[in-house]
Amino acid sequence: MLDARVQDAINDQSNFELYSAYIYYSMQSWFESEGFSGMANWMAVQVKEEISHAQIMFDYVNERGGRVVLKGIDGPNNDWESPLHIFETAWEHEQIVTGRIHKIMDLALEIKDHATTQWLQWFVAEQVEEEAAASEIVAKLKWAKDAPGVLFQVDSELGTRVFNLPSPLATAE
Ligand SMILES: [Fe+2]
Ligand SMILES: [Fe+2]
Repeated sequence: MLDARVQDAINDQSNFELYSAYIYYSMQSWFESEGFSGMANWMAVQVKEEISHAQIMFDYVNERGGRVVLKGIDGPNNDWESPLHIFETAWEHEQIVTGRIHKIMDLALEIKDHATTQWLQWFVAEQVEEEAAASEIVAKLKWAKDAPGVLFQVDSELGTRVFNLPSPLATAE
């Protein structure tokens, strides 16, 4: 049986993953309206990833005999200045998510919930990738500040990103 504190923490994080999806939807919308179709594609994939993260949490709470409780999702910022502003915000946001995942891990370790610590490892590793992906794009966009050609190169590069079902969902079928 899932400890109530762990259950609440995972339910909260599941909500935060959907909030993340909302933020990325807002970013996608800005890119669509400004004509950056590659960056819009990257964000569309990011939205799907965040929703799938919430799904993984939903499945885990149920699997452990807990109960998923859904709450309201906060509205995202809709005022974006530039591709750099967006990806810097995305990078900062992923660092917040990492901190939250680590807090749940701390709790699971504290109460010796071994199943949850093992399950959470996937998210710990995923956050390393999430931060790296965002920071890499930030670095490229900083270069693009002095060379507009680079901006369009980055845009077309990000247009190639495709969504793959995260492994915890792919193996759950
Ligand atoms: Fe996520
Ligand atoms: Fe993320």
